[in-house]
Amino acid sequence: MNYVQRRDALARALPEKSVAIFFNPEPARRSGDQDYAYRPDSNMIYLCGMDEPGAVAVIASAEQGVRFRLFVKPRDPERERWVGSRYGVEGARDQFGADEARDIAELRASLSDILFALESVYFDFTYSSALAPMLFEATEALRHRGRRASEGPRAFCDVRDIVGEMRRIKDADEIEIMKRAAEVSVAGFEAVLKTLRPGMGEWEVEATLQHAFRARHAMGESFGSICAGGAHATTLHYEANRDVLRDGDLILIDAGAEVEYYAGDISRTFPVNGRFSPAQRDIYELVLKAQKEAIETCIVGNHIKSPHQRVREVFAHGLHELGILSESPQTILSENLDFAFYFHGTSHYLGIDTHDVGIAYRRGHDAPARLEEGVVLTVEPGLYFTEDDARVPEKYRGIGVRIEDDVLVTARGPVVLTAQLIKEIDDIEACMGRREG
Ligand code: GLY
Ligand code: MN
Ligand code: MN
Repeated sequence: MNYVQRRDALARALPEKSVAIFFNPEPARRSGDQDYAYRPDSNMIYLCGMDEPGAVAVIASAEQGVRFRLFVKPRDPERERWVGSRYGVEGARDQFGADEARDIAELRASLSDILFALESVYFDFTYSSALAPMLFEATEALRHRGRRASEGPRAFCDVRDIVGEMRRIKDADEIEIMKRAAEVSVAGFEAVLKTLRPGMGEWEVEATLQHAFRARHAMGESFGSICAGGAHATTLHYEANRDVLRDGDLILIDAGAEVEYYAGDISRTFPVNGRFSPAQRDIYELVLKAQKEAIETCIVGNHIKSPHQRVREVFAHGLHELGILSESPQTILSENLDFAFYFHGTSHYLGIDTHDVGIAYRRGHDAPARLEEGVVLTVEPGLYFTEDDARVPEKYRGIGVRIEDDVLVTARGPVVLTAQLIKEIDDIEACMGRREG
């Protein structure tokens, strides 16, 4: 992995006489004496691959001698017999390439030496409650130290914009991993296609995905899988997955595998019994048309909102043609009437976080961020008609459809990382039909 290059890029992006501090928090308590499964901080993963709770990384601006310091828990054979091995100070140096590695207990004392000659300190404000008191206290002590009362930094800044912009553009190593995350995510949906039947529990669909992901050595799901039968699909983040799938309903599945800390994120909508009804077809075809056209807008020079604009245009015409909205497509768009059935964005960046970092709008500018080579984003239009919406023709009520793929922007156009997973109606019906025979 290009950790050294990434840290060098950060060091160059920092102003002179500054450091950036990153932090892996301790695991969160689940219940009793049990913790939630541990997920390290995404910037720690990006910059050094360090996944141990409690570790602190300090990366200095480019002109400084010691560029990369790691503070970690020391080895402790007795404790490690219970909770697993630690890297220790030696591991921090040898495995993670720290120029200087120390016991985390020395962090506070070391901060005095590190901050002494600095002008500014960057850290992730997500962890203010853990980091800020220590940093402020160390700075305040320097300010009042001896005769030279002007020591220590004067400014504290949020590092997220700098690292976020770096992470927005994926390097070659990241793209390779994201292809695998996409591949494993696709395999999960293919496993569902093989087994989906009326009478099956939504929880069984969830378990099928989880099994397919883990069996292919993914770390697990990149977010809680949504397996929404029938009208549950009209609830955007339905994660209960506790109902039984009914003959004649659709199931909307939104799930992804996490591979080496990178997320896949796919949505598909399948007919539970293998055949779309005419009304389901109407809505599915409209969403699919919007999605395909939106993917075509994922080109260098367009911006992150381009896919959304295209989806809205396609939906405005389609909603009018299907008699769901009587107003003209122009009026639908100018009065935002489509929001009643399409109330989320079309795209987000994808990476170490499912909703990955990276600005959508440049600060102080109205213009959205441009798409560049190496950006990975989702394209995920959907239409959702609740069961009780009297404005909508009855045949469409209770239908929710979302179709989502992961797209890499390249100089040669959009590359759909999840393209292997079928989404045409004929392909889905043929695939599910073959299975019966
Ligand atoms: N599953 C979250 C999303 O699609 O944004
Ligand atoms: Mn999704
Ligand atoms: Mn998504």
